[in-house]
Amino acid sequence: MSEFFPTLFSEARLGKVTLRNRIVMAPLTRQMAEPDGTPTEEMVAYYARRARGGVGLVITEGTYQNDELACKGYLDQPGIVNAKHVMAWRKVADEVHEQGEACILHLMLGGRVVDPRCLKPGESPVSASDTQSDGWVLYTDTDDEKNIRGIEGDWPKVTFPPARALSHDEIERIAEGFAEGAARAVEAGFDGVEIHGANGYLLYQFIHPSTNLRNDDYGGPAENRVRFAKLVCRKVRAAIGPGKILTLRLSQNGVDDFAGRWPGGVGDAKQIGAALADAPIDALHWASFDYTDNGDPSSDVPMPAALRKASGLAMIVNGGVDDGAKAEKVLTSGAGDFVAIGRPLFAQPDWPYIVRSGQPYPWAEFDRKYVVRPPLDWRWAYSAPPKVPDWPANW
Ligand SMILES: Cc1cc2nc3c(=O)[nH]c(=O)nc-3n(C[C@H](O)[C@H](O)[C@H](O)COP(=O)(O)O)c2cc1C
Repeated sequence: MSEFFPTLFSEARLGKVTLRNRIVMAPLTRQMAEPDGTPTEEMVAYYARRARGGVGLVITEGTYQNDELACKGYLDQPGIVNAKHVMAWRKVADEVHEQGEACILHLMLGGRVVDPRCLKPGESPVSASDTQSDGWVLYTDTDDEKNIRGIEGDWPKVTFPPARALSHDEIERIAEGFAEGAARAVEAGFDGVEIHGANGYLLYQFIHPSTNLRNDDYGGPAENRVRFAKLVCRKVRAAIGPGKILTLRLSQNGVDDFAGRWPGGVGDAKQIGAALADAPIDALHWASFDYTDNGDPSSDVPMPAALRKASGLAMIVNGGVDDGAKAEKVLTSGAGDFVAIGRPLFAQPDWPYIVRSGQPYPWAEFDRKYVVRPPLDWRWAYSAPPKVPDWPANW
């Protein structure tokens, strides 16, 4: 408990697990695993340090759950595919538990925005429909990083090859893959998993109408567009049982579309929330860079508040919460039940202890150097791939 932010620092149950407070570490891709996806000692130290900083729940970075259907999205992304991965993740889970915190593994499949260098020869990325991402321009723009990457001039645009629509059998298979990965996460000692349905990746590509052009049971109205995510959740729940945490992350924009919006604004959030009301999950998790910005000029209701009300589910709210007062307001305003903190925890693992003291938190603008090794232009992957430098000794 804190005399300053009593709700934020109160115990709360997420599903069947009691958390010491309502601060959640948001999933943050670090690309610090071995090339074969095995979590490293550096990752153990990184997560343990943030657990020691006093969060109630750690959510790991996006992790791939099998070697099929272009599941791996990034170089040096961790996996939960085999016994070696399980053993290495167990160290992370043990260290986080040692600090008295809970932790869940964030499972994802990239879909049409996977780094092409992760594709097998001849393999296409997969998506809801036959589409191609417009790509994005790297947003790591310090000269240091250019030197490290051997880039001169402007940052290259990241581009992706065309993606193909998934068949019904493949959709089933991917949902099974999530369930198998979730079972391995529990075997590794995690308290549950989060399913990534946000930020432009595969399940988002089904939920967002701009990337889902299907006219079968998985396309069209909101209840169809969330069908795949619900299938994944049902299979995962069956695999991990009722006692483990299961959350689903949502957003209205993605890595290749930072300005993306749900076209129906808050109305879409209500429909999507209602369609998810019977999903066997413990909470939704809203991802954004500012949760108060709903992108809907006709309403001032934050998206997570609308989703929470329409679904009746608990809500983890993320995006632009950088001090104790803002975090407390998320909880007292009805926007959510937990607050997820991303970039401030990169910068300062002791964020929870600092805000609990009531002192102002000296948060500076996002330091872009935290984004490491994002994909470069996909065409290079098939001709002369750029040399990916070793981790600089003085990083
Ligand atoms: C470098 C970086 C890596 C990220 N990796 C992930 C990820 O693996 N999965 C995910 O759902 N979101 C990811 N995000 C989004 C964050 O979880 C979060 O939504 C974002 O940082 C905004 O929250 P904040 O304002 O608290 O930082 C990442 C963000 C950054 C900056």
